[in-house]
Amino acid sequence: MDGENSSEHGDREQIVEEMLSRLTLDDKLSLLAGKGLFRTRSLAQLGLPAMKLVDGPRGIGWHSSLRRCTAFPTGIALGASWNPDLAGEFGVAMAREAIAVGAHVLLGPAVNICRTPLNGRTFEYLTEDPLLNCRLAVPLVRGIQSQGIAACIKHFAVNNQEAQRSRITVQVSERALREIYLPVFEAAVREADVWSVMAAYNGVNGDACCENGDLLQQRLRREYGFRGFVVSDWFAARRTRSGASCLKAGLNLEMPLGGLRYRRASLLREFKQGDFTAQEVDAALAPLLRVWSRTATVSRAAGQRNTPAHQELAYRMAAESITLLQNANQALPLDDTCQRIAVLGPRASKRNCRPLYGGSAGVWSPYEITPLQGIRDALGPGCRVVEDPSRADAAIVFAGLGHRVHGDCEGRDRQTMRLPAEQEQLIRETAAANPRTIVVLVSGSPLEMDWAEDVAAILMAWYPGMEGGRAIADIVFGKVNPSGKLPVTFPRSLGDSPAHGSERQYPGDSATVHYDEGVFVGYRHFDREHLDVLFPFGHGLSYTSFTCRDLAVNAHWQPGETLTVALKLENTGAVAGAEVVQLYLAPQAPRVPRPPQELKAFQKVFLQPGEIREVEFRLEEKALAYWCEQTNAWRCDPGQYALRLGASSRDTRLSSSVLYG
Ligand code: BGC
Repeated sequence: MDGENSSEHGDREQIVEEMLSRLTLDDKLSLLAGKGLFRTRSLAQLGLPAMKLVDGPRGIGWHSSLRRCTAFPTGIALGASWNPDLAGEFGVAMAREAIAVGAHVLLGPAVNICRTPLNGRTFEYLTEDPLLNCRLAVPLVRGIQSQGIAACIKHFAVNNQEAQRSRITVQVSERALREIYLPVFEAAVREADVWSVMAAYNGVNGDACCENGDLLQQRLRREYGFRGFVVSDWFAARRTRSGASCLKAGLNLEMPLGGLRYRRASLLREFKQGDFTAQEVDAALAPLLRVWSRTATVSRAAGQRNTPAHQELAYRMAAESITLLQNANQALPLDDTCQRIAVLGPRASKRNCRPLYGGSAGVWSPYEITPLQGIRDALGPGCRVVEDPSRADAAIVFAGLGHRVHGDCEGRDRQTMRLPAEQEQLIRETAAANPRTIVVLVSGSPLEMDWAEDVAAILMAWYPGMEGGRAIADIVFGKVNPSGKLPVTFPRSLGDSPAHGSERQYPGDSATVHYDEGVFVGYRHFDREHLDVLFPFGHGLSYTSFTCRDLAVNAHWQPGETLTVALKLENTGAVAGAEVVQLYLAPQAPRVPRPPQELKAFQKVFLQPGEIREVEFRLEEKALAYWCEQTNAWRCDPGQYALRLGASSRDTRLSSSVLYG
């Protein structure tokens, strides 16, 4: 396992062998299910305390720890930061908070691909793009596990909607699995040696994830080399056929309580019937004991919760993820000439960091700076908040969905991509009253905005966590230069979305959801269809300007070699800021239908005014590959590929082309 040298690894295997040899069959069966809502049994004869599992992806859930903890911005905000280092820091901080509440397993990161903007859990997930997903999830897992506790990457797999999540099976092609939905899990195993994986509620190609041998044994263990344990999502095993079928498929732990399929008495009955063997029980238990024995040694004293450092990290994450979508006439930032600022809208003083807000990703923080409070605290001398936008120098409308009433919540999907009608009306009325109207969206998923042209500026704040109000205010007043970039496309309307071509694609037909769009998910679809979008994948403005030049790349790419791409990036504006240089690869004459372009590398670069930096990317050959359904293998076709470097998927600043083969 990660962090273990080969002799420690050998020792660990010996410990597991010894443990197994000291347990009766009855003991073993009783360990395969949990005991409480968020813990397993303890095992006195082996000196193992109960293993405690806590949510979640954006901080430690009150419902699982009964403690207030730091509420960081949610997953989609981390996605918008495009900053792998920040993901790593976040992982370390979350693990320390988990340790402080006595946990051994952190139920995160949550990494399902954002396939439909309606998914109630979009706010928890990172992105629609597999590469961005991998590059953030890997350091996040490493960060968590560097502290000696297990990350639990979830939800494996293809859990992309909440509507009927436990009833549906997803019908998805091998190619889409390989290119879009599974890379993040594979990377978490291969690159970060993740110690646990959560099997999702839904089924994939016929079998429920908890009894899906293709996913859990064939891919996860045999192909990727996973050595940790698979835990069911809470009550997810309910939809399976039997304990034996879960056990044979590779489910190691059923949660919560005493289990349904893994209830000791029913497992014993199945065993006596000969439905599975004692060796199969050992094979199921060994990975669990491996992680359990390892995490049991972590001392609670090493934990840290609600520290100033974590709060400062929550602030930095918010500041780096808030995304400036539109900024006509440089409406933002507000300067000293703005003395009267109208602050309006239902999200201005709403708190989002509360128990179960949004579902299991909810965190109850010791405090939360609301947007209104953030603005008030940051007001310059003589400046004040007013109510009437027609008598203000600028108006800020805080709009958005919230976790409770309108969506952005586990367990159900949103009904529409629009804001509630009264909020749209407020935006329009404010814009009519004040030309310097700024809309700040506190929300976790794409929104339709047919009011966008009426307002001057739009800032996507996501769910920015307990320090969010401060980060928003610092961006509004120009103390911080926004550097977030969209990790998902904002389509003009829901019907443009790839998953919304028919009912069979979403929400599904007779409990089957057909992923007919194949690999054409997110911008891969919008680009193929040449659709105008509201804001493209990768988009995000800054208060400064950047210039890219001097692109250097070979004209030939020899098979077996890596391709080096270099360019210079200059901050040509007056303030410091960060640009995310994005590299897209576009096959020029593909032999099979392929996305017109795909993100293959990116780098977030911070520059002082006038500073120039050389940016270099190295592309592995795999960057060219697609999954060939004829040969059932990755394939790199010879031919011409365009390289596009830019500030979003639709803002190419430099381009070149390379001949591969
Ligand atoms: C969610 C998981 C979560 C678990 C435990 C389930 O409802 O899908 O993401 O970790 O509950 O709270």
